[in-house]
Amino acid sequence: MRQITYRTEGLPSEPAIQTFLKARELEAQGADVVHLEIGEPDFQTPLHIRNALKVAVDRGETHYCDSQGICELREAIAERITAVRGVGVDANSVVVTPGLRPVLFYGALATLQDGDEGIYCDPAFAAFPAVIRFAGATAVPVPLRGGSGFRLDIGELRAAITPRTRLITLNSPHNPTGSVLTENDLREIEAIACEHDLFVLSDETYEDIFYESRPRSVIEFPRLRERSIVMSGFSKTYCMTGWRLGYAILPPTLVEPFVRITANSVSCTNTFVQYAAVEALRGPQDCVTSMVAEFRDRRDVLVERLNRMPGINCHTPAGAFYAFADVSGVGISDIELARILLEEAGVAALAGSAFGKQGEGYLRFAYTTSMQNIVKAMDRVECTVSALAEAKVV
Ligand SMILES: Cc1ncc(COP(=O)(O)O)c(C=O)c1O
Repeated sequence: MRQITYRTEGLPSEPAIQTFLKARELEAQGADVVHLEIGEPDFQTPLHIRNALKVAVDRGETHYCDSQGICELREAIAERITAVRGVGVDANSVVVTPGLRPVLFYGALATLQDGDEGIYCDPAFAAFPAVIRFAGATAVPVPLRGGSGFRLDIGELRAAITPRTRLITLNSPHNPTGSVLTENDLREIEAIACEHDLFVLSDETYEDIFYESRPRSVIEFPRLRERSIVMSGFSKTYCMTGWRLGYAILPPTLVEPFVRITANSVSCTNTFVQYAAVEALRGPQDCVTSMVAEFRDRRDVLVERLNRMPGINCHTPAGAFYAFADVSGVGISDIELARILLEEAGVAALAGSAFGKQGEGYLRFAYTTSMQNIVKAMDRVECTVSALAEAKVV
């Protein structure tokens, strides 16, 4: 039998889904598991968006559409970015995709080739290094260190650049750490990208989930924007993970290649879902405000509880819905602790090493379940780590 190609071999399986499936297996055997592993809001998609979908289906919006995305949605996205970011966006620079993940693939495929290097931050959403490698390039990590609140060190970014570097990938607010890029970081990245003639792929999927001031977007920095693929979507902001809807804002030279990749890979994005998304953007936004307020309350309780436990230290995330806790003081590996928590304590969380070398010694807790469940999970984690601490002393 012929060998499977290195391109598919290099794609990791999704750690959150794997842990979820393991948890489901234990539940089927009678275990009671609190789920803190999956990165999706636990709220229902708001009613007005669901209703808009039904109307679109009944109206017959059930056929192929423009591979770039329906005009109404691209206009609504452009309007929205202008309102939030204060910059003009042309609807022709928007390409709509089935979820955000395709933009990561298309972005890497459109900007990288064999022998190139693409930079990603470690720890990272596993798709970042995966798509860089898939495109035939070398994935070069730049560490985000817990000691500095997982801030990007611009000196380390500069040091990672070689004559082969073509692409810098960014993710702010960041999965798994919740850190954000500051205005100053983005100015420095703008200077570096221009100096070395690099593309930037900026994943801003958590742009509406923040707890201090709204994080800055790459799109606000004109010289950076010229060379950037700015991507966001509907999964997190509007609790639409299963609807599969994302988009990219592109410099003119990348629009046509992106449309061609979209046309050849998926023909187009689901038509009636796009009509519902117009309602998501133009309809009431209080659903987003109340969801973020709930995430903030959960974050505060989760982080406070974790920081009271022996051997655990958790930085307060500024955005997204993950707490990335340093558990190195517990005395066992993150992988082993995640296993014990799942199998013996009924708490599903992700080992930080699933996000890269810098994630070793950390656990990611997604606060995408009710406050009651979070408190229950924290009681269980506390019990487990206290027992481990006692065993260590004895
Ligand atoms: C940083 C990041 N990018 C992209 C995605 C995938 O988004 P989508 O469901 O819209 O494809 C996720 C999902 O967790 C994510 O955390």
